[in-house]
Amino acid sequence: MPQLFDPIVIRGLEIKNRAWVSPMCQYCAKDGIVGEWHHVHLGSFASGGAGLIIAEASGVVAEGRISIGCPGLYN
Ligand SMILES: Cc1cc2nc3c(=O)[nH]c(=O)nc-3n(C[C@H](O)[C@H](O)[C@H](O)COP(=O)(O)O)c2cc1C
Repeated sequence: MPQLFDPIVIRGLEIKNRAWVSPMCQYCAKDGIVGEWHHVHLGSFASGGAGLIIAEASGVVAEGRISIGCPGLYN
């Protein structure tokens, strides 16, 4: 049985462990653009050794965002 710190391969990508970070809305983007807060927040999980970090939702259009502080692909 695989253990938490065993690697896993998904579609050819090897992920070094199974300790992953779930997406978390941060409400800190400015007109859809992520910034320093996201860098520090997500970067801290990366430097802590998480195998995979899933960032928050990104709206394809501005009207599709969960809040005005959510990231967007439109900008
Ligand atoms: C786009 C997105 C944003 C999320 N934001 C949050 C959040 O801000 N806080 C939170 O507790 N869970 C958030 N969730 C849910 C968590 O990612 C996670 O699914 C939930 O905490 C359940 O975790 P579990 O399946 O390990 O119990 C979000 C999920 C998605 C898809």
